[in-house]
Amino acid sequence: MKRPRHLAIIMDGNGRWAKSRRHSRIFGHVRGARVVTDVITECSKLGISHLTLFAFSTENWFRPAVEVNFLMSLLRRQLLRERAKLMRDNIRFQAIGQVDRLPDAVQEIVNETIEMTADNTGMVLTFALSYGGRQEITQMAQEVARQVRLGELVEEEIDEALIAGLMPSAYLPDPDLLIRTSGERRISNFFLWQCAYTEIEFEEKSWPDFTLSDLHRALNQFSQKERRYGRTSEQLVIR
Ligand code: FPP
Repeated sequence: MKRPRHLAIIMDGNGRWAKSRRHSRIFGHVRGARVVTDVITECSKLGISHLTLFAFSTENWFRPAVEVNFLMSLLRRQLLRERAKLMRDNIRFQAIGQVDRLPDAVQEIVNETIEMTADNTGMVLTFALSYGGRQEITQMAQEVARQVRLGELVEEEIDEALIAGLMPSAYLPDPDLLIRTSGERRISNFFLWQCAYTEIEFEEKSWPDFTLSDLHRALNQFSQKERRYGRTSEQLVIR
């Protein structure tokens, strides 16, 4: 079965899931965290080489402080809990986004986990933390300007490959498949540059209800897609 080399997931709907059950939004995040663990283990078992989870966006900072603080402590606890499994399953952990905006205690765990798993050769697991696609593109533009100012780059050298290579997430291949839960059909400032040819599966269920069989169904749908990248089916056969 043809699998995505890079699977990216927008884990949406924790808050609504909890509210519809008369629980606090925070409870939804706790249940969502359990699903995170299962999905990481399954993707690694399936041999997916890159998994990226949108855990916290640049816009999520505008949520009530109680929720932001809870998400930060949940993130810290999740990483501490996940570490042994990352080592057992040979998973390399990475983070993209404004990691320096996270509370010190979270930054510390994030950096320690990156270091601890640096030599692992299996799946690359990336958490997008305080991440925004526009923010990433802005950062890349600043880097282009810096290199031009220093005389390391001239205008004519700026092409798509150079831009892709200067993105902070350049170590990742473009996502082949993006899954978004909770029925919302938008990208919400995730991987804006990288999703140019990404297949997107919108899942009606909220993230806490997302199961491994939902994951398998999305992967199965993906395996049947013909990816033409702007060409015709006939051209794909010839290639
Ligand atoms: C979206 O639900 C989810 C988030 C903003 C955070 C993602 C966090 C988790 C899945 C739990 C913990 C994960 C880690 C990696 C520790 P929402 O709150 O936007 O839901 P809503 O759209 O119903 O309000």
